[in-house]
Amino acid sequence: MTSRIEELVDQMTLAEQVSLLSGEDFWSLPAIARLGIGKLRVTDGPNGARGGGSLIGGVKSAAFPVGIALGASWNVRLLHEVGVALAEEVKSKGAHVSLAPTVNLHRTVSNGRNFECYSEDPFLTASLAVAYIEGLQSQRVSATIKHFVGNESEIERTTISSEVDERALRELYLMPFEWAVKKAGTWAIMSSYNKLNGTYTSENPWLLDDVLRREWHYDGVVMSDWFGSHSTAPTVNAGLDLEMPGPTRDRGDKLVAAVEAGEVSRDTVRTRALNILRLMERTGALDDHSAFEERADDRAEHRALIRRAGAEGAVLLKNEGSLLPLTGNGKVAVIGPNAKVAQIMGGGSAQLNPHYRISPWDGLVAALGEDRLSFAEGTRNNRFEPALEGGLEVEYFNNPDFSGTPVFTERLGGGEVMWFAPPGGVVDLTNFSARLRGTFTPTATGMHNIGVYAAGYARVLVEGVLVADASAGAWEPGRTYFEEGCDEVVGQVDLEAGREYEVVVEFVRKPPRILGFSALHVGIGRPLGDAEIAEAVAVAREAGTALVFVGRNGEWDTEGSDLASIILPGRQDELVRAVAAVNPRTVVVLQTGGPVEMPWIGEVAAVVEAWYPGQEAGNSIADVLTGAAEPGGRLPQTFPVKWADNPTNSQDREVYPGMDGKVRYEEGVFIGYRHYDSHGVAPLFPFGFGLGYTSFEISDISIDDSAFESDGRVAVSVTVANTGQRPGSEVVQVYVSDREASVPRPDKELKGFEKVFLGPGERMRITLELDARAFAFYRVEAKHWIVEPGTFVIRASRHAGDAGLVAEVSRQTRLMLPV
Ligand code: BGC
Repeated sequence: MTSRIEELVDQMTLAEQVSLLSGEDFWSLPAIARLGIGKLRVTDGPNGARGGGSLIGGVKSAAFPVGIALGASWNVRLLHEVGVALAEEVKSKGAHVSLAPTVNLHRTVSNGRNFECYSEDPFLTASLAVAYIEGLQSQRVSATIKHFVGNESEIERTTISSEVDERALRELYLMPFEWAVKKAGTWAIMSSYNKLNGTYTSENPWLLDDVLRREWHYDGVVMSDWFGSHSTAPTVNAGLDLEMPGPTRDRGDKLVAAVEAGEVSRDTVRTRALNILRLMERTGALDDHSAFEERADDRAEHRALIRRAGAEGAVLLKNEGSLLPLTGNGKVAVIGPNAKVAQIMGGGSAQLNPHYRISPWDGLVAALGEDRLSFAEGTRNNRFEPALEGGLEVEYFNNPDFSGTPVFTERLGGGEVMWFAPPGGVVDLTNFSARLRGTFTPTATGMHNIGVYAAGYARVLVEGVLVADASAGAWEPGRTYFEEGCDEVVGQVDLEAGREYEVVVEFVRKPPRILGFSALHVGIGRPLGDAEIAEAVAVAREAGTALVFVGRNGEWDTEGSDLASIILPGRQDELVRAVAAVNPRTVVVLQTGGPVEMPWIGEVAAVVEAWYPGQEAGNSIADVLTGAAEPGGRLPQTFPVKWADNPTNSQDREVYPGMDGKVRYEEGVFIGYRHYDSHGVAPLFPFGFGLGYTSFEISDISIDDSAFESDGRVAVSVTVANTGQRPGSEVVQVYVSDREASVPRPDKELKGFEKVFLGPGERMRITLELDARAFAFYRVEAKHWIVEPGTFVIRASRHAGDAGLVAEVSRQTRLMLPV
């Protein structure tokens, strides 16, 4: 029987079929009114639904915890709930498809998008992704698992070739995608920006056709990352259904011509269009003729879920003398750059305009009362000067030199703007200049930094004097605006408190490298120094407990820019040490998108890693600090003692950050704890590690291996008991080691886990099922998975560094598994 979408596709002209294969604009596909076909809309992203428009501003949305925070929860049920809630958010933005989840692995500790990804481990990542996707799609909202594949850093990200051997691909990087297809039935996948072994993933037939469609039987849509499609026939033939964003660059008439020239068959175009129609049918977009509307739905149940999820991802790394949770009525010093500024998300396309942001200070005021708190900022951790506040009048000219009368004027809310759509519908974004005029009234007298960075040429004048220059002669490519911008150029100027200064920014559009947009950030800040650290010390000395909120923010942990180091930025280490020196009850609350070095770890009593947990950040953190909630997180990424210990540290620049257009994954399957294990490098905190407020015992391991010889299945059972005084959770982690293998294999690999919630004194018997893949490795030449004969060690433990409970299983024969 012919299906509805087959009938539809066969009623279409070639041009109509082709029209569905590229975006109409940034976030939607064209409708086909003649056939009653509605409009498919997509929205970023992993930690919310931003909706249409630019990355800044836009209709408000709920900000959920970022990927690494969700990864740290190790809770598949939570991820399902988050998926369901995010589906509601996607619908509130009139969209049908979420551009999420991000499942690239933490190969490095410095990847700018580390925060957006769940883990360094493929099993944890895949398990969480499946739950998240099932949650989304249970509401008829499509996931778009990304970025397929090999996008583990942000350096030269739109052109670099990730050189990855097939075994590492199969065992690590492809696995979350494989599960998303086979177990969750994802309806969409986004190809990555990079090349894979020399060919862009958006036109890689091995990846998109052999592996994805033939081996995994994928019937969903593959879309390009934004501007990540670079050809006509090669992408269409390889299996890229959708070129994003629109309007088209490589398809439309060019694709019709390629069909006429015999470079692409009509049948291939039909198949691609059918895939799009299938996605439209699955999500309801096919029959969605409702007027486009974006709503800001600030729901109580989302607030509660986000708050809970934030605490579930918070990892208690150290708690000497059970300092936490805070008890008693003593004074609490709240110190640090992240105390009064809520760090709720990372930067880049995952960014959105949140309903609100609860800072740690706000959360603590609500939990403890302001009377018990004192505050000192201590130091700063910003990467860029804070964006100029207050209105800016903008004059636009459709020429590069501000000549004639402006074609449009508008007022902007602050010092950052990204131009995706023509202002007023009249500014020619391919050829324009803009003059922005605002004022600044300093609150303190002294030297101020004026910073500017731009995807475009820009210079800043204060009272008519040029202070920061990133104009045509001075501009150099840097790590801002997805690699379209320059690094921040900072100038200094002496300003007097209370006086109003005129600030003018002159911006001239510059042809983009790859991504077609212009953007500008202008900021003013006053550097903090010794006096502010001394003030923090004084505040800490007076208090019973000192909470120090340090870390990074979305300027550092951002798409488009890797970190140059994992040392806390600025003088934050110094601040922690200075506070710890005067207050033995010092608690460090970290907010970062990945590991940091902690040279002061021996000097402080307690450490919590809270990541970027979304709009409820301060409430989740206060819940954990006061014990209203358990710190439920376990590290989804190993924290090394120092950057140089991490898997991509090498004398060879090709291994990282990359050289001559290549980044070579030389370490193969040995990333994350697999690396630290194989090199005998002790981490600062191992993968899977995290403390709680109660104590657990894992006991009585038993194994059912009756099906091991026949089909490679093993069931592992243990008893988990809460032996402490408070309710809490423990994550039972099952690691498998292959005793003797014909290829080098990691010392152990995570193959099962379960988060168990128990009241004081409660116990529970749990069983984890391992399948044959838990024991197999991938044989490249033979193109199959194999479980070799011999003995395998199964360990049920609390983290990768824990001896845990051990059992062994053995088999006599080899077991071959198809791809
Ligand atoms: C990112 C994607 C994102 C897309 C649309 C790209 O820069 O890599 O993850 O979904 O933009 O915003």
